[in-house]
Amino acid sequence: MSGRIPQHFIDDLIARADIVEVMGRHIQLKKAGREFKACCPFHDEKTPSFTVSPQKGFYHCFGCGAHGTALGFLMEYEHLSFVEAVEALAGLMGLEVPREEGHRPARRFDELYELLARVDRHYQAVLRDNSAAVEYLKNRGIDGATAKRFGVGFAPSGWSNLLDKFGKSPEEIDRLLACGLIIRKDNGQHYDRFRDRIMFPIRDSRGRVIGFGGRVTNNEEPKYLNSPETALFHKGRELYGLYEARQAIRHIEKLVVVEGYMDVIGLARHGIDFGVATLGTATTEEHLNRLFRLTDDVYFCFDGDRAGRQAAWRALETALTHMREGRQIRFVFLPEGEDPDSFVQSQGTRQFEAALDGGMPLSDFMLDELASEVDPNSVDGRARLAESAKPLIGKIPEGFYRELLLSKLAETVGLSTAKIEALIRPIANDSSAAGVAIPRGKRRSQHATTGGPSVVRRAISLLLHAPESAMKLDATELAGISRPGVTLLHDLIETVQEEPDISTAGLLERFRQREDGRHLGKLASTEIPLSEDFDPAAELSACMQQLRQAAGRERIEFLIEKERLGALTEDQKEELRGYRRHAENPG
Ligand code: UTP
Ligand code: MN
Repeated sequence: MSGRIPQHFIDDLIARADIVEVMGRHIQLKKAGREFKACCPFHDEKTPSFTVSPQKGFYHCFGCGAHGTALGFLMEYEHLSFVEAVEALAGLMGLEVPREEGHRPARRFDELYELLARVDRHYQAVLRDNSAAVEYLKNRGIDGATAKRFGVGFAPSGWSNLLDKFGKSPEEIDRLLACGLIIRKDNGQHYDRFRDRIMFPIRDSRGRVIGFGGRVTNNEEPKYLNSPETALFHKGRELYGLYEARQAIRHIEKLVVVEGYMDVIGLARHGIDFGVATLGTATTEEHLNRLFRLTDDVYFCFDGDRAGRQAAWRALETALTHMREGRQIRFVFLPEGEDPDSFVQSQGTRQFEAALDGGMPLSDFMLDELASEVDPNSVDGRARLAESAKPLIGKIPEGFYRELLLSKLAETVGLSTAKIEALIRPIANDSSAAGVAIPRGKRRSQHATTGGPSVVRRAISLLLHAPESAMKLDATELAGISRPGVTLLHDLIETVQEEPDISTAGLLERFRQREDGRHLGKLASTEIPLSEDFDPAAELSACMQQLRQAAGRERIEFLIEKERLGALTEDQKEELRGYRRHAENPG
């Protein structure tokens, strides 16, 4: 495995990179005061609304909202992955990218692809000669043509088949290790990872083998063994069967996400060529990006049992930020004890397609699940339903799809859409940008005094503009304050305190992978007045104080409202009495 790039190297790289130089190689930049201007390379425009700030190491387009760091620019403009962008940027600066656990020299990727291809051919050849393994596949309903399409193979028993055949020199052994095909023992010796297993090659979007899954043919454990994460293979990104689907279907109309290798193959055997599987992980953002790049219609097919519904719920939570007009996700629950493979074998292609057609739209699944947690016949239950839907609906980008969900919610809880909107708006708007977006119109001033979301938002903006201003804050003060963006603020403070020299761009890159960090770029590009006597540290601690006070006030309001509904627990009654005593008798 080629090691991770150390975080400090990335921080340092971004802090030292000259964004103007990096971008200037691709686009024409004009100096304008402390910043640089250009026509945006990401959308069509005649007058420049694209700004680059060398101090912050950050660009922003006021026209289309594009923004990012030097790394982000390379990723967007040159379509590089994060690691490729790091390598490119380091290259521009004449630096070599270090790797953690990096005692081994960086390997050429093409050598690894080639090794994996040879091993793949080997496993397939072994399968042809192993009648017991062929028999196993036949018993599972897999014919030769389907097995061939998916490159199914067999790893024979024995500890050193691959090692003997492909590991004749230290360099070869090194490559086998880097591909995750052998395992190193404490004594420095090695052995084959996959033994006595049916082998499923995992291919990337270009059809290159990047890893394997292996299944036992008996009842031994573990049933499936997968390649570890390697330089080429990242579970959270790959979808098993996607390459094969694209080979089989000229124009993909829909994709169905299933759980296992055998589900994909079983479906394909029955003419359903659009099955893909996550590789023993939950559905990630990256998976959804890939799916929606190919089609607007995605189905998730899970078992009907508890675990299946839980997996579906997790997929739903990840999918919300991807929902927009025209896109559709359906959840298909099979009868308990069935998986797509067994279902299509016993019921046939038609029935499986009917099951897909009968899948639950994301909106229905969401409201159904939430409604099952409350008593929808009581006022309190309906209020709680609306309450619990709030953060979820808030994740959906503004637009038609969100409006649709809001009206469905209104219908479910028996309130007018207007009422529901009023209930939901403050948070929905806000968390559309992961809890830190600009609240609209009047609410801005209102929240500024109540410590509402815009205070969190302002605190984050301040911190991004002047990271060092967070040095003296106490992040633990935020514990127990639950409002959108607070966790992000907390983590930003901690990051700055651990890395006092971190730059704005460095922070943005650190939080790139985080769901709630996606909108930091927008905040970094908001204007903050920079007068002579402007003291960001003082401003920031004022924000913290407002937050603490507002959280206290809101807690009391919440308790009073519950009291009105007669729904206080004993502990809450005591808590409220405490506040009242304190109010009558302050100090
Ligand atoms: P399942 O246990 O549902 O198996 O695992 P399956 O797909 O129905 O397989 P068959 O029909 O018994 O052959 C679903 C997926 O979870 C991962 C694999 O990716 C598998 O395809 N898994 C399962 C593992 O990684 N390890 C395991 O031990 C089991
Ligand atoms: Mn199965």
